[in-house]
Amino acid sequence: MDNLDQLVASAMADFATASEPAKLEDAKARYLGKDGSLTALLKGLGKLPAEDRKAAGAAINVAKEQVESALSARREALRNAQLEVQLAAEALDVTLPGRGRGRGTLHPVMRSLDRIEQLFRSIGFDVADGPEIESDWHNFTALNTPENHPARSMHDTFYLQGVGGKVQEDVLLRTHTSPVQIRTMLAHVERYKHLETLPELRVICPGRVYRVDSDATHSPMFHQVEGLWIGEQVSFADLKGVVADFLRSFFESNDLNVRFRPSFFPFTEPSAEIDVAFMSGALEGRWLEIAGCGMVHPNVLRSGGFDPEKYVGFAFGMGPDRLTMLRYGVNDLRLFFEGDLRFLSQFH
Ligand code: DAH
Repeated sequence: MDNLDQLVASAMADFATASEPAKLEDAKARYLGKDGSLTALLKGLGKLPAEDRKAAGAAINVAKEQVESALSARREALRNAQLEVQLAAEALDVTLPGRGRGRGTLHPVMRSLDRIEQLFRSIGFDVADGPEIESDWHNFTALNTPENHPARSMHDTFYLQGVGGKVQEDVLLRTHTSPVQIRTMLAHVERYKHLETLPELRVICPGRVYRVDSDATHSPMFHQVEGLWIGEQVSFADLKGVVADFLRSFFESNDLNVRFRPSFFPFTEPSAEIDVAFMSGALEGRWLEIAGCGMVHPNVLRSGGFDPEKYVGFAFGMGPDRLTMLRYGVNDLRLFFEGDLRFLSQFH
């Protein structure tokens, strides 16, 4: 029986030194496996004289139980140790400062639009908007641009596809914010139709517009801000004053020259283009075109429901993308619309 005690002691020592589950299972096989030493002893029982068999069998079984319980104790210990290691590796340090969520910033063009709205509100303008999918009538016809009028070719228009992929000639992505002039006029006339004389209409319409055009200074989607002031006594001098004051406030500079250059638009007569030139800085002395404007054409007043014999007005349409480029010194329009955070997060 000394032999058995030794065998149990040796099994326990082997189990204790098995540092990982695979090694423990190898050790187990040496004692309890098919060719294991305990298994061999059990198999050998049959060769013993009958009178010794019972005692020897009992002793071997006791030894086997001892080995088995040592084995499961060691298995459990190894499992626990492994769990400890895993827990330590996956531990959360709740004292670390949080990463937080980045605070977004307003898009630079939106900052300009906010600023433009604020400045025009301060001189009594309302802010209106209209749909980006427009009818041909609002976008062109009502603005004194009848079918086949050469001015339509000034705009490269996105027409919408109808059922079956057919281009719908009468539905388009608006090419400018000018159709909002028509919508606002019609709504104004409707609202005050009970009055003999309509109150003055003073409104700006900021929004997205679309044209088939793309390079460093043109994007197929860009922004415009339309302006409209209609009353009984509105003059070109008012237009010049409003626009020049606006530009000086927008750029926070009196160091600015503004000029009105004669031009053509179907919806205004006379028409002009507005240029600015800075008197200092990188762009010093260069005239930059930033808006179109003019006195509202009688046909446009009529489309909007106003009597051109009684009312006059001025309108302008400017490019806030361009204004933003000038204000922040950005030289490629496409940067505004690529969504690159390295660029956008510079504007706080
Ligand atoms: N709608 C013109 C364009 O997109 C800009 C414009 C010019 C608007 C003159 C006006 C205006 O209201 O009076 O090119």
